[in-house]
Amino acid sequence: MARLTDIGWEEFHALPLEAKRPYLARAEGDGMPYHTLFAQQFDRPVLERLCALSNRIRFINKSREGALYLKSLLAHKRAMLYFSQPSSRTFLSHLAACQILGLTTGSVRDAATSSEFKGESHEDSIRTFSSYFDMIIMRSPEQGLAEKMSWELSNSSRPIPILNAGSGKDQHPTQALLDIYTLVRSFEEKGGIDGRTVTFCGDLKRGRTVRSLSYLLTNFRDVKQVFVAPKELQVPDDVIATLEAKGVRHEISDDLRAATKMSDAVYMTRIQDEWDDSKGESAKIDTSRFKFGAEELALLGPDSIIMHPLPRRDEIATCCDHDPRAMYWRQMRNGMWIRTALIAGTFGLEKSIMECGY
Ligand code: NCD
Repeated sequence: MARLTDIGWEEFHALPLEAKRPYLARAEGDGMPYHTLFAQQFDRPVLERLCALSNRIRFINKSREGALYLKSLLAHKRAMLYFSQPSSRTFLSHLAACQILGLTTGSVRDAATSSEFKGESHEDSIRTFSSYFDMIIMRSPEQGLAEKMSWELSNSSRPIPILNAGSGKDQHPTQALLDIYTLVRSFEEKGGIDGRTVTFCGDLKRGRTVRSLSYLLTNFRDVKQVFVAPKELQVPDDVIATLEAKGVRHEISDDLRAATKMSDAVYMTRIQDEWDDSKGESAKIDTSRFKFGAEELALLGPDSIIMHPLPRRDEIATCCDHDPRAMYWRQMRNGMWIRTALIAGTFGLEKSIMECGY
C-alpha cells in the first residue's frame, strides 16, 4: 500500500498524476479517495460506486427517519471550508453535503479575514485548521496548493483529508464528478455514456472544469470529445496529449452549430477573464460565435443535453432555461448529492449507507 508518509514531497510531486492515485487513496484499500485532488484519481468502478451511493443517499434523505440517520453518521466530525477564491455553488453544495451527514462546519472565505493577511504561510494556516477540524475542503487560485497541503498533512501528527474544490486553472475534480453524475442520470435509460459525443465550448484554455471532465470521460468507452473555442482560448496541449495517449476520439473546432448537431451533450463555459495576463485581453477576442441560443437549441437532438458548470454570463441565452434538455440547474443539485457521497466515501461510510435498512 503506497502512503504519503513513505515518499518525499519532491518525489511525489514529480510523479505523473495517475501514479499519485494510490498515495491518495484510503489506507483501508476500499478504492475510495482519502485526499481528493485530481480527476485522475477516479476510475470507472469508483465513479459508478459514487453515483450509486449518491442515488442511495438522495433516496434515504427523502424520509425524516432516513435524513436523521444520515445526519447521525458524521455528527462527531467537523469540516473546514477554506475558500480563498470566489464561489457560490461549490461552497454551498459542500456545506449542504456536510449538513446532510451531520458534520459541523467552519469557514474562511476571504484570506483578508484570516491570519494569512498578517503574513502567515498557507502551510501554517492549514496546520491551524487541522488542529480544529477533521477535513479541509479548499478552493485556491494557486495550482498545486491542495496537493502540497495533502502531503504536509499526511506527514504531520494530525493527518486529515483534503478535498480540492477548485485549484488554479488546473483541476476541479468534484465539479467533474457532478458532471459525470449528471451525464449518467441523463442517459440512464438511453444506453449510458459509452459511445456519446460531448462538446466543450467557451474558454477551454483556462477552464479547470474542462480539464477535469475531459479526463473523467476517458473512463468511458468510445466517447468522442469536441472542443469548440476561439483559437486564443482553445483547449491546452496537455488535455489533447492525454486523449491521444488514451486513443480517445477528439476534434478541435470553431463551429458550435455543426458540433451541436452531432453532440449528445454540449458543455458551455464562461470566459475566465480573471486570469487575463494584461487587463482586458479577453474582451478583444471575438466570442460571438461561441454562445448557445435559440438557433443552437433548434439544432440540438431531442435526447441531447446542455450543461454548464455555472456561473453563466451570456454564453447560454435565458430562452434555453425552460427547455427540458437544459441540465445546468439539475447539475447544481446533483453536485450536492455526489459531494455528500464523496465525503461519506472518504470517511469509510459507503458500505454502511448502501446496506442500511432505509
Ligand atoms: C467553475 C469554477 O470555479 O471553476 N465554477 C464552479 O465551480 N461551478 C466555473 C467557472 O467559474 O466558470
